[in-house]
Amino acid sequence: MNGQVLGPKRYYILTYGCQMNVYDSEVLSGYLESMGYIPANSEEDADVLIINTCAVRQKAEEKVLSKLGKLRSFKKRNPEMLLVLWGCMMQQKGFAEKISNKYKFIDLIGGPHSLQRFPQLLEKAQTSSKTLIDTSIEGEKEHPHIKRGHSFKAWIPISHGCNNFCTYCVVPYVRGPEISRSPAKIIQEVKELSKKGYKEITLLGQNVNSYGKDLKEDVDFADLLQHLDGIEGLFRIRYMTSHPRDFNDRIIDIIANGEKICEHFHLPVQSGSNKILKLMNRGYTRDYYLELIDKIRSRVANCSITSDIIVGFPGEKEKDFKDTLDLMQKVQFDAAYIFIYSPRKGTKALEMAGQVSPEIKKERIKELNKIQSIISLNKNRDLLGTKQEILVEEKSKTNPNMLTGRTRTNKIVHVSSNGNLLGKLVDVEITEAKSWTLTGKCLS
Ligand code: 5AD
Ligand code: SF4
Repeated sequence: MNGQVLGPKRYYILTYGCQMNVYDSEVLSGYLESMGYIPANSEEDADVLIINTCAVRQKAEEKVLSKLGKLRSFKKRNPEMLLVLWGCMMQQKGFAEKISNKYKFIDLIGGPHSLQRFPQLLEKAQTSSKTLIDTSIEGEKEHPHIKRGHSFKAWIPISHGCNNFCTYCVVPYVRGPEISRSPAKIIQEVKELSKKGYKEITLLGQNVNSYGKDLKEDVDFADLLQHLDGIEGLFRIRYMTSHPRDFNDRIIDIIANGEKICEHFHLPVQSGSNKILKLMNRGYTRDYYLELIDKIRSRVANCSITSDIIVGFPGEKEKDFKDTLDLMQKVQFDAAYIFIYSPRKGTKALEMAGQVSPEIKKERIKELNKIQSIISLNKNRDLLGTKQEILVEEKSKTNPNMLTGRTRTNKIVHVSSNGNLLGKLVDVEITEAKSWTLTGKCLS
């Protein structure tokens, strides 16, 4: 049916991975709409289908690879359909060439650095007999077009890339070195969004705390936060992801004294073992991390602290695992995202001795998840009967009569409501607590 229907052409984007990828998909949508495309209702209805990929863990890659058969059938049914593979997975050495040799029906392959060239690439791909590939790491990072996913909350990149080279991580290889955006551009963007009525912005970067180090201007993350906190009209400022090593006292003070910066600290610890932290090249010790948490809790009342943890990193012995368990018990995270170590090509950890067996990795993740779910439940129970402000974000995925929002501390709250509260800040009383979600009743 596609290609034969008159009227505007349609696009569909499937996004895997982190918030930066979600933002990149918003930019791709913006470019497509500037070219006259409109959104399609489903993958098969699209004239242009884009898969925006992630390379952080093997699982994300497998999901994309398992989709390629389906894409082949779409192309058979509608040879006019343009199939695009985009994002970090394509940026890995030799990957795009391998894919284009094996799956010749793919029309275009591009990476995060090629975003601004996307309109020209797409046009060229329509007449090219071979897969068009653009995985150059050069590319303008400012975009004239963006189609934001929401009208009340927005993602704003403050930096691209990463210089940290944690030994397990592929990001510095696929997203390149850290480049900070100019503070003036960020401030202008936030002011414009605030004028349009946006209530919440989330500043994005692989390591937001090192913002500004590469700029000529004398500006750091604390300065940026302080400036944005003063922008009129805006209500909530979030940021991700932080690196514990660079989370300094000034940042804590500015958050403590700020009005709009949310009291949620996502501080990926990755491991509780000094030996493993060193092998990971994280640049801090467990004692440093524990002190940082104490400092934050003593200065920012009622804050929440969440983390990322990797189990089964090479060399992780039972004692190291127990150190992580112990750290989790000591910190009492509000939530923790626990991942099984996934060996990535080109990273140092891939070559390290002492790779942990899949069985042990599975046992360890199971144990950590079990403990964390008890900790999260207890933390959430502390909120029973309290009043919380939530930003209502969407209809509940499981119950159409419920709405879902987030507290300033980033906890998910379900509320029942007849009114149209989407995009509104609402006070609720917490009536039920589970490990990962809360239920509340509207007070206004
Ligand atoms: N294996 C498992 N988890 C990883 N992460 C990054 N690289 C890997 C990997 N190779 C996790 C880290 C990071 C989060 C975004 O993904 O915990 O904080
Ligand atoms: Fe990867 Fe470490 Fe950079 Fe985060 S800080 S993106 S984990 S290299």
